[in-house]
Amino acid sequence: MSSLRVLPLGPPGAGKGTQSRRIAEAYDINHISTGDMLRANKDMETDHGTPGEYMDAGELVPDPVMKAVVEEALSDLDGYVLDGYPRTLEQAEHLESVTDLDAIIYLTVDREELIRRLSGRRVDPETGQNYHVEFDMPDDPAVRERLVQRTDDEPDRVETRLEEYATKTRPVIEHYTDHEAFVEIDGNQSPDEVWEDIDAVLRDVGE
Ligand code: AP5
Ligand code: MG
Repeated sequence: MSSLRVLPLGPPGAGKGTQSRRIAEAYDINHISTGDMLRANKDMETDHGTPGEYMDAGELVPDPVMKAVVEEALSDLDGYVLDGYPRTLEQAEHLESVTDLDAIIYLTVDREELIRRLSGRRVDPETGQNYHVEFDMPDDPAVRERLVQRTDDEPDRVETRLEEYATKTRPVIEHYTDHEAFVEIDGNQSPDEVWEDIDAVLRDVGE
């Protein structure tokens, strides 16, 4: 297990989840996905209601809930790729108070491409693996058969998520641009090309 701490940033559909899985495997670090953790605990009662109420609408889950979730997930971890946090300035300040970062990877993707990726995404409910109706379908017919669409990938929710990103998360990107570990990568490329760029950055960091 390595102690590399990686933060992928980018809008919904940028490929954070896709690339985080590759990073975690190649660098032998934990993949912490706030979206996946919340989806597994959608009905958990909190002082602010359940995560599912916000997620299904495409809105951000309140900061106090998120801070507690992430603090718990990062405790006792050495290396990690943290996928989905921070998404507000308050979360960014919180993250700085609990950990340092070795690489901050900002994936930029055009709006039309984001919409295409999100509307075509399908998820295997058994493994959590993401696919795409145009770019990446499983060979196994049994897997193809059981794929589902995420509730928040329906068109009106996608719109809300992109708005939440523009108003609440954009300032987080600006906050990190001056950080010495910040790198911008063209996320419009194919998954393999994006991965090559990320891998080149992380190999440098590790040296
Ligand atoms: P979360 O699950 O994190 O969703 P998201 O940020 O909207 O991001 P996505 O998972 O949609 O996109 P991604 O960048 O991971 O893209 P992916 O790799 O899947 O969060 C869900 C919800 O949880 C939030 O809306 C909120 O309610 C809540 N939440 C989570 N964290 C929170 C926080 N910190 N604060 C508050 N609330 C929080 O790729 C997308 C698709 O494109 C896939 O189909 C994939 O196969 C395809 N694809 C990927 N890369 C490429 C490529 N290069 N070329 C072509 N296709 C590609
Ligand atoms: Mg994701």
